[in-house]
Amino acid sequence: MNSLNNKIKSVGVNDTHLTVELLDGRSIRLPLTLFPTLAEATARQRAKWELCGADTGIHWPLLNYDLSVAGLLRGEPEAPGIRRAKQTAKYPAHKPGKAYALAEEAEGRAGSPLPADGTQTEDGAHGVTRPTKPSVLVDTRVIYCGDNLEQLKKLPDACVDFAYIDPPFNSNRNYEVFWGETKEKRSFEDRHESTKAYLDYMRPRCVELARVLKKTGSFYYHCDWHASHYVKVMLDQIFGENNFQNEIVWKRSSAHSDSKRYGANHDTIFFYTGGANKWTWNDQFTPYSEEYTEQNYRYNDEKGRFRVSDMTANKPGGDVSYEWKTPDGKIVKPYKGRYWAYSKEKLKQMEEAGQIYYRSTGMPMLKHYLNEMPGVPLQTFWDDIKPVISGSEERLGYPTQKPLQLLERMILSSSDENGIVLDAFCGCGTALVAAEKNKRQWIGIDISPTACRVMAKRLRDVCGLPESEPLWKAGRGFVVRDLPWSEEKLRAIPPFEFENWAVIALGGIPNKVQVGDMGVDGRIYPVSSAATPYRLKEGELGLKERWYPIQVKQKDKVGRPDIDSFEAMMMREDCDKGFFVSFDYSSDALQEIGSFFKRSHKVIVALTVKEILDEQIAKKLA
Ligand SMILES: C[S@@+](CC[C@H](N)C(=O)[O-])C[C@H]1O[C@@H](n2cnc3c(N)ncnc32)[C@H](O)[C@@H]1O
Repeated sequence: MNSLNNKIKSVGVNDTHLTVELLDGRSIRLPLTLFPTLAEATARQRAKWELCGADTGIHWPLLNYDLSVAGLLRGEPEAPGIRRAKQTAKYPAHKPGKAYALAEEAEGRAGSPLPADGTQTEDGAHGVTRPTKPSVLVDTRVIYCGDNLEQLKKLPDACVDFAYIDPPFNSNRNYEVFWGETKEKRSFEDRHESTKAYLDYMRPRCVELARVLKKTGSFYYHCDWHASHYVKVMLDQIFGENNFQNEIVWKRSSAHSDSKRYGANHDTIFFYTGGANKWTWNDQFTPYSEEYTEQNYRYNDEKGRFRVSDMTANKPGGDVSYEWKTPDGKIVKPYKGRYWAYSKEKLKQMEEAGQIYYRSTGMPMLKHYLNEMPGVPLQTFWDDIKPVISGSEERLGYPTQKPLQLLERMILSSSDENGIVLDAFCGCGTALVAAEKNKRQWIGIDISPTACRVMAKRLRDVCGLPESEPLWKAGRGFVVRDLPWSEEKLRAIPPFEFENWAVIALGGIPNKVQVGDMGVDGRIYPVSSAATPYRLKEGELGLKERWYPIQVKQKDKVGRPDIDSFEAMMMREDCDKGFFVSFDYSSDALQEIGSFFKRSHKVIVALTVKEILDEQIAKKLA
C-alpha cells in the first residue's frame, strides 16, 4: 500500500500513449486505449494535470479524473464505472504540478495491460454496476484488523472523502470498550488524568485522519460530555479552526437519570472539512412540523395544501406599475409606495398556470404548495434519530452500536456515490453498512478481531455482500485483512498470548499480572456498571465497580476441576457472571456450570475458540 517510492517526475499524454517518468528513473508507457477518458479528451484537457497523493498520483482537473503510479505500474485499465463516477467526483488536487508534456516519449518498459474483462461488475447487494477499483490510490471494501494508528499510516495522503470516528472514551484501556462503555470516574483527579490520557491517545490518530482526508472531504468525530470540549480544542489545532463546520447534538436517549445533576442524554458530533473552500455537500431536509404546516399552509385547492406570499416589491424596474384586473373584474394596484414584483405579462402567465390566489380585496398572492417544498434543511440538533435499543431490528447486542440512520445522514450529506468512507473505530460496522447501502466505497479499521468478524457477518447478512478475495478482486464483495488468528494458530501460540487474544476478543481488559492471577485472566466492565458504595477505611467511602471475570485455558477440554476453581473465585469476588474460554469442555464441566447456577444464581458463560472465531459470541454475550 505504501507507494512513496512511486514519485512522479513527468507526465505526457499524446494521441496514442500515456507516458510517466518516475523520479527513480523508471518510465511507464501505456496505450491510451486503456484509458478512455484520456483517449476521448481534448489536447487542452489532457495537458492540464496536477500531482496528487504525495506525488504518486496524477489528477486531471478539467476531466475530474485521476490515476496512480501503482495502478499504472500494474497496467490497470480504466473501468467504465470509473468514468461515470468521475463526472460527479470532486477530487482534490493537493499539489499543483507543472502541466507539460514530455518532449520525447521515453521508450516504454510498460507493464502488460490487463484484459478489460472483470473491470465492471454486478454488485450482489444492489445489482449496481461498479468499478473494480474505484480509487486508484487506495483499496476499498476492506476491513483492517489492527490498531488504527498503524493502519492509517499505511494509507496515502488525501485518499478518503469522508471519515467518521466514534472512539471509546478512555481508549487507553482499549479493550474494555467493545462491550462496555466507560465507567464513571470517582474523583476529579481521576477524571482529569483519564481525559489527558484519552487526548494523548487520540491526537496522533486524528493527525493521521487529517492527513488521509481529501481537501474536499469531511471528518466527523463522535463523542460525549466526558471529553467533548477538550476534543474540540484538539481538533481545531489539527484540522484548523476555520475548517470547523458544526457541532451536532444527537439526542441519544429520551431521559437519563443522573443523580443530583441534569440527565446527560446527548452525544456531540464535531464536523470538520478538509481545507478546500468547497467541499462535498448534499442538502438534506426533514419534514415540516405539524405545527408549522398548520400555521403556514392554511389554504387548499385541487393541487394540495399551500401558503401564499406577497407579489409586490419596494423597488421599481421595468413594467411593474400597472393596474391589475382580477378574474371577477376588480381593479387592483400594488400597496401604496410599492410596485408589482412581476411584469404584467409574467403575472398573466402565472394566473393561467393557476399560481395565483386572490384575497377578498382582489390582491393577488403567489401560491407555494407544500408538496413542492423540500422541508426544513437539516439543523445541528438531531432529535429525530432513535438510539439502537433492545427490540431495534438492527441491534446486534453491542452497547456502543450507533443507529444506521445517524451514519447514513452524515454520509449522504458529506459524500457522493462512489466516494470513499473511512471509519477507523468501526465497532460493529455501522458506518460501513451505511456506506455500502448508499453506494459509497468504504474502509473499516478496528483493533478487535471480534468486532471485525461481527461486522463482516453484518455486511454479509445485511448488505448481501460476499466475503471473498477472488470476488473482491473482481469488484464484488469485500475482504477482512490482518485478522491474526485461526484455530490452528491459536493452539500453537504461547499461553500468555492465547490469553490475551481471548480476553481481547471478548472485549475485556487482559490482566497485566501474569503470575498469580488468582484465576482471572481478564475483566469485562459491562455497560451501565453502576458503582456501588463500600467502606474503604474509617470515614472514607469508595465505589465498588461491577466487573465480570474471564478465565482462559488453552486446553482441548476443560474439566470439572477448572470450573470448580473458577466458581470459587467468583464466590470470593462476588461476581454474578463470568466467562470461560477454551477449545472445548468435558460434559462434567458443563454439568457443573449448570448446577453452579442452580445453587448460586451465578452464570458462567462457557465459550469455545470456534465460537469466538465463528462470530457466535455476540449472541452469548448480549
Ligand atoms: C464505540 S465503538 C464504535 C462503535 C461503532 N460506531 C458502531 O456503531 O458499531 C469503538 C470501537 O473502537 C475500537 N477501537 C478502540 N481502539 C482502537 C484502535 N486503537 N484502533 C482501532 N480500533 C479501535 C474498539 O474495538 C471498538 O470496536
